[in-house]
Amino acid sequence: MRPRRESILPAYLAWWLNQPDVQAEINAVSGGTGINYLRRQAVERLGVMVPGLGRQQRVVEINRLWRLEKLIESRLDTTRFASQRLERNPGAQIIEREVGTRSPATVNEEWIAAAFADPQPEPPSKVLRESEQLIEEIRRADLIVLGAPIYNFGMPAQLKAYFNQVGRIGRTVAFDPDAAESYRPLLEDKPVVIIVSAGDGAMHPGGELWHMSHLEPHLKTVLGFIGLTDLHFIRAGYDEFQDDRAKRSLLGAERTVDEMVATLCKKDSAYLASSA
Ligand SMILES: Cc1cc2nc3c(=O)[nH]c(=O)nc-3n(C[C@H](O)[C@H](O)[C@H](O)COP(=O)(O)O)c2cc1C
Repeated sequence: MRPRRESILPAYLAWWLNQPDVQAEINAVSGGTGINYLRRQAVERLGVMVPGLGRQQRVVEINRLWRLEKLIESRLDTTRFASQRLERNPGAQIIEREVGTRSPATVNEEWIAAAFADPQPEPPSKVLRESEQLIEEIRRADLIVLGAPIYNFGMPAQLKAYFNQVGRIGRTVAFDPDAAESYRPLLEDKPVVIIVSAGDGAMHPGGELWHMSHLEPHLKTVLGFIGLTDLHFIRAGYDEFQDDRAKRSLLGAERTVDEMVATLCKKDSAYLASSA
């Protein structure tokens, strides 16, 4: 389908096609068993609602703001932890690392060559600057708060990019092929609070879809690998359903945030709030 740009904005058409009633209409007229298809006549009968370009632009903008609001909403628990922490201890320093909208670089050949160079040059190679900074932030923190949504049964690509920068031989984990234990974590253990949000609450422990979620096992493995084993999970779910279960789940998560702030925030120094 190719829109006539002089009369319809592609972003508006995408928004319109994704509306639940339009999706229902498309499903009703589509054919196929495994892979659905639409006949040309069916597409022609869809009758796209086409307001003026100005109004289309406003719809696109409202939709963008709505998505932004959702993003901010899912950050609220991480922020709640941070602000309560500050209230209890105004001297505390907060290092905020937002990876959802500002993803760390993905590793490439140059990065790999520099990270595995033996011996490591001093000062470290420029390509490792971001990695050095992220590792330093973790070192300085006495408490880490990590916001992690489930994306396609695992962690979002940006959070994976973050861990690819942070898991480094010689910096966060020692590797000795001849030792009884080849890998030795190099970071000092400290509490890590992980706030997991999911579209479907059944993907949390105890839920019927828990076996499909690889996020928490993956986080436990990558964090444990570098020495962070004191993990505290807070979970919010049913974000996609936006019903009573979503409200109850959010309230429960907020209560747990408050309890954890009371028990975990006892020290003075920095902590890192990282979101994805
Ligand atoms: C690309 C994508 C994939 C998702 N995959 C899952 C999933 O596998 N399981 C689930 O329960 N929710 C899934 N969700 C829903 C999100 O986990 C949920 O809406 C979360 O609160 C989004 O957080 P964010 O607004 O910080 O991205 C997915 C959302 C997106 C955008």
